[in-house]
Amino acid sequence: MGPATVAQSALDPAGPQAAQLSHLWWVMFWVCTSVFLVVIAIVASAVLRRNSEPTPDRLLTGSVAFGVGATVAILFGFLVISFITGRAVASTVDAGAVTITVTGQQWWWNVEYIDPAPNLRVRTANEIHIPVGRPIVFNLASRDVIHSFWVPNLHGKRDLIPGYQTSFWLQADRPGVYRGQCAEFCGHQHAWMALYVTAESDAEYKRWLAAQREPAVEPGSDITRRGQELFLKSTCTQCHTIRGTIAGAVSGPDLTHVASRGSLAAGTLSNTREHIERWVRDPQQAKPGNRMPPNAMSDDDLHALSAYLESLK
Ligand code: CUA
Repeated sequence: MGPATVAQSALDPAGPQAAQLSHLWWVMFWVCTSVFLVVIAIVASAVLRRNSEPTPDRLLTGSVAFGVGATVAILFGFLVISFITGRAVASTVDAGAVTITVTGQQWWWNVEYIDPAPNLRVRTANEIHIPVGRPIVFNLASRDVIHSFWVPNLHGKRDLIPGYQTSFWLQADRPGVYRGQCAEFCGHQHAWMALYVTAESDAEYKRWLAAQREPAVEPGSDITRRGQELFLKSTCTQCHTIRGTIAGAVSGPDLTHVASRGSLAAGTLSNTREHIERWVRDPQQAKPGNRMPPNAMSDDDLHALSAYLESLK
């Protein structure tokens, strides 16, 4: 059992930057609420006193001057605290952090764990594991249109812009599975471009990373052998990688350990046998407009192929 899923909310911060942003939000919320209540009280008192003597001009001028002064002071205060928060969340982090490159594309997230040794790099999709209490540097890029990487419990949004790499860091202070969501409209399936960040202990994280570095398991039964054969003979290999086989294309998600992930198609479907079959046969039904074409095949072939994919833990 891994950590529990946390409700997606910017107001339930689980890391230092998210805490700063949530703090800023609450300050603005309470100041704006107070201003609103004061304005409503003034309007109400004006309505109640509509039949009394007109207020002298001198007093009116004083009130307007006070209102303008208070507005300027409050807005200036907001400017200062926003600036301080912006500086704090944009701070850089020392070397030695875990570095992950996330590339957005319509409509999923390509995730690569960077390591100086190329054989220790890991490529996966839509699911990121991080150790609790350690800074994680994200390098962010896009392969097609503008997306935005947003895991509300951990940090604010950061746009992924084609041809321009940005980076930021975040840290999770407590274990949990944090849902993230593309936060920039990027086409038909923008709403179904989700990801999950699992923050876990250092030991669990290292175990996960070591498992991801392994090549795919060899099929251990007749049906999975047949599934692998079908996979390698079909058009699947034109887009997907399964390390340890001849499939090495990178335009679609890496499937080497697809069965270890909690969801399919960037958070669209839970990772069950039924959903794998549905997705392989007609991905357009579950997520219209996505880049994967439908695959006409017999039920037997579909079962074999799904059994193979399901074995890729
Ligand atoms: Cu990607 Cu919205």
